[in-house]
Amino acid sequence: MAGRFITIEGSEGAGKTTQLAFMRDFLERAAYPVTLTREPGGTVLGEKLRALLLAQHDDGIALTTETLLMFAARAEHLAQVIRPALAAGRWVLCDRFTDATYAYQGGGRGLSGAQIALLENWVQGDLRPDLTLLLDVPVEIGLARAGRRGAADRFEQETVDFFERVRATYLDRAQQQPERYRIVDAARPVGVVRADVENLLAQWLERD
Ligand code: TMP
Repeated sequence: MAGRFITIEGSEGAGKTTQLAFMRDFLERAAYPVTLTREPGGTVLGEKLRALLLAQHDDGIALTTETLLMFAARAEHLAQVIRPALAAGRWVLCDRFTDATYAYQGGGRGLSGAQIALLENWVQGDLRPDLTLLLDVPVEIGLARAGRRGAADRFEQETVDFFERVRATYLDRAQQQPERYRIVDAARPVGVVRADVENLLAQWLERD
């Protein structure tokens, strides 16, 4: 039986990585084989591309280049990790995926959804996440949390307006695709969010 593909999304400081580790534990306790991974990254080449994407560049990076690098990392990730794991019946938990391209390069930077969809269809074929959890947090709260983690990367240095657009794009996509998305209020304490996420997963497993 093919596995399931679950992604987690949200803007900076939403707590995705923490919740993803709890989700892995939850699914493993229920005896599901889990592959935990992230984007951009998840492969040797993908992690190199991630470092390039998050680093500052004196001349900046053109939006087309940034988007193509995201999809280059994604193509490698799909070929080496995601598709083989799903084919082996594993559950893939991925920290960000193409919804992040719609939110950041699309909403944040203004690239058209139609152009992103072209790349999505080319690189992924008909593969889409089975379930996407959106950890939603007001921008000021998220940025304050992210600021405590240390030096800001190239995205974290963006303006509050940029992150408002990222957040709005995620919420809009979630509202338009209620079958796939679940929205979680991630402004609450980590244990409360965890309980919510586990309940959502349990409900989703039951209907699956
Ligand atoms: P994070 O995984 O540590 O949250 O950071 C990755 C950064 O990359 C984050 O700021 C969002 C950004 N990103 C995009 O802009 N587009 C994408 O398609 C992906 C996967 C990430």
